[in-house]
Amino acid sequence: MAVRKKARKAKAKTKAASRKVVKLKSKKPAARAKTGNGLPRPSTKSYGQDGKALTGVRILDFTHVQSGPTCTQLLAWLGADVIKVERPGVGDITRGQLVDVKGADSLYFTMLNHNKRSITIDSKHPQGKRVLDELIKVCDVLVENFAPGALDRMGLTWDHIHKLNPRMIVASVKGFGPGPYEDCKVYENVAQCAGGSASTTGFREGPPLVTGAQIGDSGTGLHLALGIVSALYQRNRTGRGQKVLAAMQDGVLNLCRVKLRDQQRIEKGPLTEYSQYGEGIPFGSAVPRAGNDSGGGQPGWILKCKGWETDPDAYIYFITQAPVWEEICELIGEPTWKTDPEYATPRARLPKLKAIFARIEQWTMTKTKFEVMEICNKVDIPVGPILSMKEIAEEPSLRKTGTVVEVDHPTRGKYLTVGNPIKMSDSISDVKRSPLLGEHTDEILSEVLKFSSKDIGEIKNSGALSAPKKEEKAA
Ligand code: COA
Repeated sequence: MAVRKKARKAKAKTKAASRKVVKLKSKKPAARAKTGNGLPRPSTKSYGQDGKALTGVRILDFTHVQSGPTCTQLLAWLGADVIKVERPGVGDITRGQLVDVKGADSLYFTMLNHNKRSITIDSKHPQGKRVLDELIKVCDVLVENFAPGALDRMGLTWDHIHKLNPRMIVASVKGFGPGPYEDCKVYENVAQCAGGSASTTGFREGPPLVTGAQIGDSGTGLHLALGIVSALYQRNRTGRGQKVLAAMQDGVLNLCRVKLRDQQRIEKGPLTEYSQYGEGIPFGSAVPRAGNDSGGGQPGWILKCKGWETDPDAYIYFITQAPVWEEICELIGEPTWKTDPEYATPRARLPKLKAIFARIEQWTMTKTKFEVMEICNKVDIPVGPILSMKEIAEEPSLRKTGTVVEVDHPTRGKYLTVGNPIKMSDSISDVKRSPLLGEHTDEILSEVLKFSSKDIGEIKNSGALSAPKKEEKAA
């Protein structure tokens, strides 16, 4: 009897606790005690125990594919409540792209939409518009990366949004900023090409190359996230929202800043750190592709290591940094190069870089990339092993820091993802699985928007939140 009583008590306690959690979810953080100069007093809670950087910020997430979702995932990791609006029945198109587990959301989707809630709304349905207007009133930021004009066509113009909520920040990713291409739809590689990355990537004698890093999509998402948190900060002072635009061409160009630097240098003379200079090949009028030359003033190249014949990633990036030239000469067995005027100075070495790297490679080919890493780092020579995705996925130190995380998902099971790469001592990110399509529709209608059950019934019966029936679709 006593045991049953105890169990009942425990059950009641858990119920109360879960009610408490629900209540906390929709609550803004409590105002803090102020110091004499009006600033909040430092928290007395332990680091990591006083909410997150963006606790209390609510995002109306209209993003899809990669660029926008990268941005809102970062904001979610930083503590924002991200409400992802998806088209009923379909959702973000990436849910069904590159599917590896039949019937489950793709890794493309799951790896870009952690820590978010999903609500399905037909934004063109009158009842859908009603729900969206209510969401606009209770959110701080609307983020979107539709094709140009799509948001306006939904009726969600800046004027409409601002009438409902003057504090709203409206943040957009577009392919291009204002100009001749502003109406174009843009994907990752288009941005890499238009932003100057492709023309400066690859080998001189080969065609332009796109990179594996998603600098157009994820890079622009990052830029947008910075714009959003800055706009939130400015709003604290001005009380009003603003538009934030990150164009993918601009984002890529920002990441290719050193190449625009070189464009101006080339007009004044040859780019002496490019191996093309050492090989005596004249420069044209635009920055050429530089293969694996390092972008800075310290020459570098990718060299073969032991096992390269069978392992496509048995390579190391080797930098002949001037202050450690003597150590390099010792390691590779060329001690006379330390004092030989033909090799002793960076300027003397420039025309011979190809031959010098060939000599260093004779040495690196006798070691594995990890052995080269260990030997070189002992004497401060900067080198970087070419790590395969398999090696990165299995690297224990990345698991330990939460940069590579294993997540469980109800329909796909366990999978690996990249966690928040930004580590903050008082805002610690946990990685929660991506939401199922419309998983939080009811919760958002009742808890966030406080719709009555009668209203919820009316909205649902209108068809604004569900996929059109097959016959209607066909008609
Ligand atoms: N309810 C009803 N309609 C919805 C909806 C919803 N919840 N969500 C989206 N839609 C509609 C849009 O209103 C739009 O309709 P419209 O053209 O009649 O106005 C339509 O879906 C398609 O949107 P769109 O953005 O044009 O998608 P797309 O698949 O044709 O194009 C991109 C995809 C990425 C090329 C395009 O969105 C784009 O250029 N975005 C900006 C740049 C960008 O972010 N690119 C990188 C993507 S990783």
